[in-house]
Amino acid sequence: MTAALAVQGLSGGYRSLAVFREASFAVEPGQTLGILGPNGAGKSTLLKTIAGLLPTQAGSVLHDGVAMGGARAHRRARTGLVLVPEGRQILAELTVQENLDLGRAAGRLGKPEFAARSAEVLAIFPRLAERRRQKGGALSGGEQQMLAIARALLLDPTLLMLDEPTQGLAPIMIRQVLVALQALKGRFAMVVVEQNRAFLDTLADVTLTMRNGRLAPDEKGTNQ
Ligand SMILES: Nc1ncnc2c1ncn2[C@@H]1O[C@H](COP(=O)(O)OP(=O)(O)OP(=O)(O)O)[C@@H](O)[C@H]1O
Ligand SMILES: [Mg+2]
Repeated sequence: MTAALAVQGLSGGYRSLAVFREASFAVEPGQTLGILGPNGAGKSTLLKTIAGLLPTQAGSVLHDGVAMGGARAHRRARTGLVLVPEGRQILAELTVQENLDLGRAAGRLGKPEFAARSAEVLAIFPRLAERRRQKGGALSGGEQQMLAIARALLLDPTLLMLDEPTQGLAPIMIRQVLVALQALKGRFAMVVVEQNRAFLDTLADVTLTMRNGRLAPDEKGTNQ
């Protein structure tokens, strides 16, 4: 079986600064990988490098068996490699519907498939359906996270990466995000970066830890 994501000897950072080094792991189709780690460990830098938002310093990223090389983020997204960034990055001045519609231009679904997928996504997140005409900036943190995930789903991911989806959310909203991701689990591969161990214990099939830019297997209970 071809891995949805194979990361081999990957190093990355900012200009000459190396933030993470020699990361190697694979995620099978339908598998959910968790990555735990403290602030500043290099988790977001790793995801941004895999997504093509930052250049690779060494090593390689294969998505569905295809080497991503130096492809930029928008090209990777069109192959189904999609990142929900830290801090959601939804557009505050656009409505919920307009935020979702952005995926039509950025993604790879044709018009009828996009319409069908939109209906499906709004069924997963009924709260968004109710608030379609509201501006993104008027949503609560949890609703914004749901909008960010919904927008990513409209890009038809085969690999969905989520950077700290529970960050700043109240427990009840964390629960709702967890329920939504559990419902999606298995449909495509996921990489979920978190500082919330309990969340990953429930969601992830396998968990790694990142410390000082190095990935290691998670040794339960010895972390945090
Ligand atoms: N744009 C940037 N330019 C230079 N250094 C950066 C930049 N962004 C992050 N860094 C540095 O890279 C290191 C890792 O940051 P990163 O954001 O990947 O950590 P993280 O594990 O995601 O942390 P957090 O849990 O706080 O989100 C930190 O030392 C940080 O200061
Ligand atoms: Mg981060």
